[in-house]
Amino acid sequence: MTIDRLKPAKLRALAVIVFAGIAAAPLLAAPADQIRTRIDGYRDLGAAFKTLNDGLRAPSPQPAVLRAATQRIRAAASHQYGWYPAGSGPRPGVKTAAKPEIWTQGPRFRQLQDGFAAQAGALERAVGGGNVAAIRTAARSLGGSCKACHDQFRVEKN
Ligand code: HEC
Repeated sequence: MTIDRLKPAKLRALAVIVFAGIAAAPLLAAPADQIRTRIDGYRDLGAAFKTLNDGLRAPSPQPAVLRAATQRIRAAASHQYGWYPAGSGPRPGVKTAAKPEIWTQGPRFRQLQDGFAAQAGALERAVGGGNVAAIRTAARSLGGSCKACHDQFRVEKN
């Protein structure tokens, strides 16, 4: 009677262990994917920012080009908040230029993320307004928000 009652419980316990093992496997592989997502995101952001600046250097900037680049920048500004999950920082065997301070100085880092998002919003408004001089100014301020974060939280490239 007792044994019959224990059996299903033991089976359930075993099932839990097996499922936990299956669930844990992708978690262990995740940091590399998370870093990949982050770096790919920044590459696209960098490319969009270059497209914007190239577009602004043209004798008569094309609104459609500026708008498309701005949309990509805005997308990055919202996605960036998901690019730093716990455990995606530097560790042996992993290539990332993200400094460990990102995870120890959260509020400071968050401020710089918010600063970038605010400048991306300002850029979008300037592009909507259509005044090229104002768009150039907004693009410069946006560039300042990239640099502010890189100076503090990205490892300098040699
Ligand atoms: C809040 C911080 C922050 C802001 C704002 C920020 N970046 Fe970065 N950026 C980083 C960090 C950290 C890395 C390194 C990521 C890694 O290697 O895991 C990085 C990496 C990059 C890279 C290199 C990707 C590669 O190939 O390795 C580019 C390009 C880049 N950022 C462009 C920009 C541009 C352009 C802006 C502004 C429009 C910007 N970033 C704003 C923190 C920031």
